[in-house]
Amino acid sequence: MLERTIKTVVEHYGTPLYVYVKDVIRYQLAKVKRVFEGVRMLPTFACKANNNPRLIQLFLEEGFGTDIVSLGEYHASELAGVPRERIVWNGNGKTKAEMGFLKDKVGFINVDSVEEAQRWADFQSDANFFIRINPDVDPRTHPHISTGIRETKFGVHIDLIDEALSVLRKQGKKVLGFHIHIGSQITEVEPFLEAISIGVELSKKYGFGCINIGGGWGINYSGKELNLEEYRSKVVPLFSSFELVIIELGRYLIGPAGILVAKVEYVKRTPYKTFVVLDVGMNALVRPAMYGAHHGVHVLEPEEPWEESIVDVVGPLCETGDVIARNRSIPIPKCGSLMIVEDVGAYGFSMASNYNSHPRPAEVLIDLSTNEIRLIRRRESIEDLFRNVE
Ligand code: LLP
Repeated sequence: MLERTIKTVVEHYGTPLYVYVKDVIRYQLAKVKRVFEGVRMLPTFACKANNNPRLIQLFLEEGFGTDIVSLGEYHASELAGVPRERIVWNGNGKTKAEMGFLKDKVGFINVDSVEEAQRWADFQSDANFFIRINPDVDPRTHPHISTGIRETKFGVHIDLIDEALSVLRKQGKKVLGFHIHIGSQITEVEPFLEAISIGVELSKKYGFGCINIGGGWGINYSGKELNLEEYRSKVVPLFSSFELVIIELGRYLIGPAGILVAKVEYVKRTPYKTFVVLDVGMNALVRPAMYGAHHGVHVLEPEEPWEESIVDVVGPLCETGDVIARNRSIPIPKCGSLMIVEDVGAYGFSMASNYNSHPRPAEVLIDLSTNEIRLIRRRESIEDLFRNVE
């Protein structure tokens, strides 16, 4: 059914194409809600994972707000209609211009350093302030997306909490609690338990009834994912005395719901290797090139009889690192076949670039239960690329 719908969508909108499946978003949402049943909370969607306002709207309808890190992400929230009291502002490099603009447009502000706390002296704000702490816990994920160990740039060192707090309080800011986010694509419960326990203990010490536990839930790219039952039984009881728990989930909500549909341009055979060359590469999906990330790849309806072989699936860009999948055993596709790259709903389009001057793909939202197909972002044009040239 999905395969037929994909063919129809491609007939309309061409390739490369990001396709999001609403049914999967609903499924992920239901799982998250079940984990936190009974907890008083503000769930937010981390727009850095995907900034499409039409997707943000789906989360809004389910009671979610947004976690934003830039004016652009604020704008995405605004386009989706997210109310102020459901917007959480994160970032370790908040500029004065951003502070002046957003100070009374967001409900929550996570302060990343003593230096940022000092800068807030220049701005009146009645938002709810949180102090992001660096708990020095190893999330056991890729080093580029580990944020809660002391060598990383994020959060206030535990020894500096008093200073950050007194700086903000002297300015009359309302400080409600601590924020902890130790990294992304975390597939073990233990690091969450360790870091959040530290946050809970500190909250008790400082008399805070609110806590923001960030995001970071790992999805199943290649066999391992966060065990939600274990999370529910070990981590959630820590929240029993809190009046507000904020979460900022990105990948878990949207990652599994997105696929990238690409067309096979060539099957290039050399004495050493076979390369499947797609019409898209690291420009639209940089995760494999940037983190060595694994994404499942499939040939859509391979023609029988097929020959299965180990191939590298690559893009058309002028870099050796322009790889989508390495050493995969797949049916050798024909030129013109469609291929699907899985689990790209998070940090796919949002990290896409125009490298090699390729326009970014279109985005489509489909609902398998109603057969609804909706274009939610037009394909970029060549003109778009040069719009700002003076
Ligand atoms: N909150 C904060 C403060 C964050 O920095 C992040 C992600 C999140 C929440 C959401 O995390 P999630 O639930 O999506 O794991 N580009 C990388 C991921 C970078 C994550 C950055 N921060 C990737 O493609 O794997």
